[in-house]
Amino acid sequence: MALLEANDLEIRFGGVKALAGVSFRVEEGEVFGVIGPNGAGKTTLLNAISAVYKLNGGSIRFAGEDVTGLPPHRLSRLGIARTFQIVQPFKAMSVRENVAIGAMFGHARLRTRDAWLAAADAALERTGLAPKAAFMPPQLTLADRKRLEVARALAMGPRIILFDEVMAGLNHTEIERMIDLVKSLKQAGLTVVVIEHVMKAVLALCDRIMVLNFGAKLAEGVPDDVVSDPKVVEAYLGQRFAKAHSAAHAATVAGGVQ
Ligand SMILES: Nc1ncnc2c1ncn2[C@@H]1O[C@H](COP(=O)(O)OP(=O)(O)OP(=O)(O)O)[C@@H](O)[C@H]1O
Ligand SMILES: [Mg+2]
Repeated sequence: MALLEANDLEIRFGGVKALAGVSFRVEEGEVFGVIGPNGAGKTTLLNAISAVYKLNGGSIRFAGEDVTGLPPHRLSRLGIARTFQIVQPFKAMSVRENVAIGAMFGHARLRTRDAWLAAADAALERTGLAPKAAFMPPQLTLADRKRLEVARALAMGPRIILFDEVMAGLNHTEIERMIDLVKSLKQAGLTVVVIEHVMKAVLALCDRIMVLNFGAKLAEGVPDDVVSDPKVVEAYLGQRFAKAHSAAHAATVAGGVQ
């Protein structure tokens, strides 16, 4: 049974179909990537799943239950957590308190301030942010603000986390650290959906990838197949990426050094 199942999702803004009949399944324990050009509908898809936007059509099942139309706070309690592409922490609250808000909304079991803070501390440990727990968000680098998003989502005690471009704007070293963090979440048994433009991260992390283009599914499959699909190269990746990837792949297959 898939943990998350989306059937024929449709979201319209006026006359524009931002999502036009998108269906997919995410299996428990996998990292599922969503890629595609700017404006393809990736963030809209995440907003549809997390009920930030109301569906104009389609249905969503989570852990075997129909969750279509449930409000965001009910989805959080069921174990669906997300991050936001535009990071907006509460500036007047410490990093620790910002993360504790995740615990407050996510965990039905945790009812006291101490319990929320304890869950926050555990999430800060897991994301490497513990030394900055007392910082105020404006003191953080972009990479740390992205980690704060991940920590807040983790503090909710989710079964699935939906990441919207947590690598965007990070440098090489910061991307490597974020890849390691997402890998550690998978190893801990979490199911992860990553929306991402950083292809190095997509290839390092994803078990399967779905490509969106103009609000519709263009391709889906294991990374090697998807990135060499001519439709995907044409619409998104470009010829340069495809050539570089197939050369690197051939070298690996031949036992050569990349
Ligand atoms: N709240 C909204 N109101 C009107 N149009 C919207 C709204 N949100 C998204 N759209 C439109 O829906 C389409 C899909 O946008 P979306 O933000 O989902 O793209 P994306 O794939 O996340 O792009 P990016 O890679 O740039 O983040 C775009 O045409 C966008 O302008
Ligand atoms: Mg987006």
